[in-house]
Amino acid sequence: MKKIVVFTAFIFIVFSCAEKNNKAAAILGKQVFKKNCVICHGVDGKLGLNNSKDLTISKLTKEERVSIIKNGKGAMNAFGTILKPQEIDAVVEYTFLLK
Ligand code: HEC
Repeated sequence: MKKIVVFTAFIFIVFSCAEKNNKAAAILGKQVFKKNCVICHGVDGKLGLNNSKDLTISKLTKEERVSIIKNGKGAMNAFGTILKPQEIDAVVEYTFLLK
């Protein structure tokens, strides 16, 4: 019985930590996007300034998005040296939330 209680508590702690991390990443992604991306893509990702793509209809995978953000493409500048890997990761996740 004791074991079950300990186990349940353990699972609960693991899940609540994961939840916190997800929330922190989502907040970070939004901050990074607001600071670095809205100038061209707009708050909702649809602005299309400087011929930037509408991010809400992008069919690119996570890996392809990471690559474009790191290396830039066309009029989009590279963010590989500006953003930390976890910031790039967070902002890519954020682009998937844009609708
Ligand atoms: C200077 C303007 C500019 C800024 C700033 C900018 N982008 Fe872009 N972005 C573009 C342009 C232009 C393209 C289209 C590139 C092409 O395909 O020629 C693009 C394309 C993309 C794509 C690929 C979309 C697709 O479906 O092909 C993603 C994802 C993207 N940008 C994300 C971001 C993120 C995230 C940021 C902020 C870290 C950002 N962009 C900042 C101009 C910009």
